[in-house]
Amino acid sequence: MTDRIAHGGFAPKRRTAQDAAALIQHGMTVGMSGFTGSGYPKAVPLALAERMTAAHQAGDPFRVKIWTGASTGPELDGALAKADGVEFRLPYNSDPIARERINRGEMNYFDMHLSQVAPMAWQGFLGDLDIAVIEVTGITADGDLIPSASVGNNKTWIDRAKGVILEVNRWQNPALEGMHDIYYGTALPPHRVPIPLVRADQRIGQPTFRCDPAKVIAVVETDAPDRNAPFSPPDAAAHAIAGHLLDFLGHEVRKGRLPASLLPLQSGVGNIANAVLTGLIDAPFDNMVAYTEVIQDGMLDLLETGKLRMASATAFSLSPEAAARLNADMGRFRDKMILRPQEISNHPELIRRLGCIAMNGLIEADIYGNVNSTHLMGSRIQNGIGGSGDFARNAYLSVFMTPSTAKGGAISAIVPHCSHVDHINQDVQVIVTEQGLADLRGLAPRQRAEVIIANCAHPDFRPMLADYYARALKGSFGLQSPMLPGEALAWHQRYIETGTMRG
Ligand code: COA
Repeated sequence: MTDRIAHGGFAPKRRTAQDAAALIQHGMTVGMSGFTGSGYPKAVPLALAERMTAAHQAGDPFRVKIWTGASTGPELDGALAKADGVEFRLPYNSDPIARERINRGEMNYFDMHLSQVAPMAWQGFLGDLDIAVIEVTGITADGDLIPSASVGNNKTWIDRAKGVILEVNRWQNPALEGMHDIYYGTALPPHRVPIPLVRADQRIGQPTFRCDPAKVIAVVETDAPDRNAPFSPPDAAAHAIAGHLLDFLGHEVRKGRLPASLLPLQSGVGNIANAVLTGLIDAPFDNMVAYTEVIQDGMLDLLETGKLRMASATAFSLSPEAAARLNADMGRFRDKMILRPQEISNHPELIRRLGCIAMNGLIEADIYGNVNSTHLMGSRIQNGIGGSGDFARNAYLSVFMTPSTAKGGAISAIVPHCSHVDHINQDVQVIVTEQGLADLRGLAPRQRAEVIIANCAHPDFRPMLADYYARALKGSFGLQSPMLPGEALAWHQRYIETGTMRG
């Protein structure tokens, strides 16, 4: 027994990471913890990658299927991809080595709506789960598991796996205990009942994971930090986007379409989302709450000012500096945050009921308001749809934000037709770039095109888009969403061939 492992029954199961990794065999399906660079196992995947490399050098196959909450850290996705050890991956990836393998066709990748992963696992749609590898903060005297910095799909992996390997990470703050809300009331149809959550700050579950000790096949002790990338300071475009959006929210309050404390905020990942959160510090909204996927730096700042009353999420996604700040002052933040399973943080029923304001990033939007969040040039995946679809379709207000250009201004983020569509125009109500904001609510496709080109496109590309649209109005097969199919695709082809859209 140690101060982190209070239940005596786990002592005989303590193993080295190498011995625990030896329990994982070629062809297995492994469910790992982790959601962004938080709460993922850090020792067993590295040891597994070493075994894979050795097996490949000996001419033996060694590849597994990996399921997680979302993206993880370099010790998991990066190490296993480098070892060419992943045959199949779901539901989200942002690791650059894995991304390369996926785009070279060497790794099968199914990017999924994050709310759907646990239900699909229970429905049996994803196949059997052999082993779960779960990072925890500790094990209670009763044998319950204290979750770490993310919850993700851990409850489901622990329940569904034939064997469970635990990584007890001493780096995780023991004060995390009590912050989580693990809901055990989900069921499969026809036995589903309403989820009894009606406020973002409500607790409906218990603070720990249940786990049959007999299923635990190894316990590995670690002391290693979570790893999230630092945020770069918001640039002028991010500030401008935040400014347009905050003005718009103020306008909605004045119109009586939003309360003065707004509605539960969902904020996507990245620097623009962070800039919006930072902008909210000086905005005239108080007593706000967040019902979102991840708590990132800007949200911590908002909590600190008291303008954000509480934040509900499934994981932290903090820069190393913010993680250190939280760890040093956990007592102050603890009661203002709830971490839940991702099937609850992203649940369509709850997002619709609470009336979330969804704010997500995009790769490209077309002039009709369809949004591509995932594929560059229609074929090369960047990350995945993540939770953006869960929130966009069910939100009270669905906002997408982007700089109007990418690649140093060489390519327009506003295009005639998206090369790939993740969010159909019905799920996109507002588009914001540093140029301005397009309020698309209640507008038909042709009306949308005029507003998006005028308000959101970069002046360098506005004439090209206006010219295309004018010719499409004359030459299109139908005029509901005018299109010149060959030209719409050529728009993307021009970038692939020349590296730029200009000229
Ligand atoms: N054409 C070509 N490349 C483009 C592009 C475009 N229209 N838009 C972006 N890119 C490239 C960028 O140049 C960058 O490439 P690099 O890595 O070689 O520099 C890369 O795509 C990522 O762009 P960046 O601007 O850094 O992305 P971001 O951090 O603002 O994130 C998304 C934007 C869409 C990738 C990100 O929000 C995402 O993954 N969304 C899907 C999941 C999601 O929304 N999750 C939150 C839900 S809770």
